[in-house]
Amino acid sequence: MKPTHCERTAPIARMPLISAAIAALLSVLPVSAPAAGLNDNGQQLYMLHCAGCHGMNGISVVPDAKSFSRVELMAQPDQSLLNVIRSGRNMMPSYLGILSDQEIISVINYIRTLN
Ligand code: HEC
Repeated sequence: MKPTHCERTAPIARMPLISAAIAALLSVLPVSAPAAGLNDNGQQLYMLHCAGCHGMNGISVVPDAKSFSRVELMAQPDQSLLNVIRSGRNMMPSYLGILSDQEIISVINYIRTLN
């Protein structure tokens, strides 16, 4: 079979849903951080890894998960939040090996904006 002239394909990669999915997946890699910097990246990481339990706005959607609007919770220094996120606690999964410390810090920066 010889190829013909009509081989042009639709620009599938430009379909918004697929692009969004790819962007979300790539957001775990440092290379795709948008120019705006860590905070945007933190938002993407949060939506990807945390919003399923802690909610899009930091208001928890599963029993037991903490809402980030709780003052005493967010009064903790970054380091102790980092430790919990890194090692997990009860139903809260561990992110050691999934997110780097720097990525966890940018997620913490993001959840501090949710109050
Ligand atoms: C599978 C559901 C789930 C996911 C996903 C999840 N969490 Fe949690 N998280 C929990 C639960 C449940 C707790 C309460 C743990 C406890 O103290 O028993 C919690 C607690 C926390 C706390 C409070 C720790 C404290 O000092 O009390 C923080 C901060 C937190 N999560 C951040 C995150 C971040 C950031 C992510 C994403 C990287 C995330 N969580 C993903 C369920 C989840």
